[in-house]
Amino acid sequence: MTYIAKNYDRLIGTQGFSDKMLKTHFKLYEGYVAHINKMIEFLNEADKETQAYDEVKRRFAWEFNGMKLHEAYFGNMTKSFEELDTESGLARQIESSFGSIESWKKDFVAVSSMRGVGWTVLAWDPEGKRLFNVWINEHDTGYLFYSVPLLVNDVFEHAYWTDYGIERKIYIEVFMKVIDWGEVQRRFESVVKFSDSHASQGFR
Ligand SMILES: [Fe+2]
Repeated sequence: MTYIAKNYDRLIGTQGFSDKMLKTHFKLYEGYVAHINKMIEFLNEADKETQAYDEVKRRFAWEFNGMKLHEAYFGNMTKSFEELDTESGLARQIESSFGSIESWKKDFVAVSSMRGVGWTVLAWDPEGKRLFNVWINEHDTGYLFYSVPLLVNDVFEHAYWTDYGIERKIYIEVFMKVIDWGEVQRRFESVVKFSDSHASQGFR
């Protein structure tokens, strides 16, 4: 089985994101997909007791997560923004974990503004039943084990440099206005349903 790059052309025309910036970003994402397929092929065929095998294996999560995080990111953007439904289960969990939706937003923006390149992720811990705003350094450092990403923001420079140069803060504000809250709620509801339907949540 090979991974196939998803098409996000539906996002062309999103307010605050130029066609040039989005198309360049799609190309970059497609590079991750192509690369992960090559790595899988290499790992299947390579002599296992070589340094080359070790190094590709060591690099695998970086490339794989780079692919998946882009899919989560493009997947939670929309041209037709609607506010988070304040009556939804997700809104209630945000209030329970962060005090209020406003506090959550302030924290998410603060995490997105951190120095360095990486991702900001609103993640759900199905066992502890709480949300966290998480900083992922590059693609592979900082995950909360067993948590599920609900909302993802790309804060690598390539995500905003074309339109905003060094003004990451403006990009973050623009991103906050194109979040597909319907999709974020769907992700939340599906993980809650999944974990509730399994008798053993978490680890014993
Ligand atoms: Fe990116």
